[in-house]
Amino acid sequence: MIRKTRENADRWGVELPTTVADWRQLSKHVDGQFDAIVCLGNAFTHLFDEDDRVMALAEFRRVLRAGGILIIDHRNYDYILDNGFRSKHKYYYCGREVDARPIEIDINAVKFQYSFPDGSRHFLTLHPIRLNRMKTLLENAGFRNLTSYGDFEEDYDFDDTDFVVHVAATG
Ligand SMILES: C[S@@+](CC[C@H](N)C(=O)[O-])C[C@H]1O[C@@H](n2cnc3c(N)ncnc32)[C@H](O)[C@@H]1O
Repeated sequence: MIRKTRENADRWGVELPTTVADWRQLSKHVDGQFDAIVCLGNAFTHLFDEDDRVMALAEFRRVLRAGGILIIDHRNYDYILDNGFRSKHKYYYCGREVDARPIEIDINAVKFQYSFPDGSRHFLTLHPIRLNRMKTLLENAGFRNLTSYGDFEEDYDFDDTDFVVHVAATG
């Protein structure tokens, strides 16, 4: 991902310092006050431990300047937990040819299977965070003015949403 980031930065002619850091110790690795943190691609749900989620959000807030924003997303796990899986098959992160679906659904862990056109299959297990829990975590971490988008729309039907993106400001 770092290599791809550098390729993209070169392509667009921008200088983009890169580093690898665990979110939970982010402030140890990056200095300066950032305008925005972007944590997309359902990435936050790689954290399974509530303490880790609290720690990561606190660190995100710590490295943002006053008035800075956090942009963070997750799948609509409420729908998956309550109804099983369905998808508009519109928002994929790995190409239109790839089928992604949960094959094991549990309150603590959802195992996704990614099937590729060449017949290969890959698996990813994630923590199914609920919308209200995520909002509470953001508030408890000191984020304010939360706006949530369903599949990139501010006006959305939650039951017909694949991904939720939150935009939250430091207090
Ligand atoms: C599904 S990928 C999404 C990547 C990227 N945001 C995107 O949209 O293409 C999830 C990413 O979260 C990263 N990740 C998971 N836990 C992390 C942690 N504790 N600290 C930093 N990164 C983490 C993984 O290494 C992986 O790169």
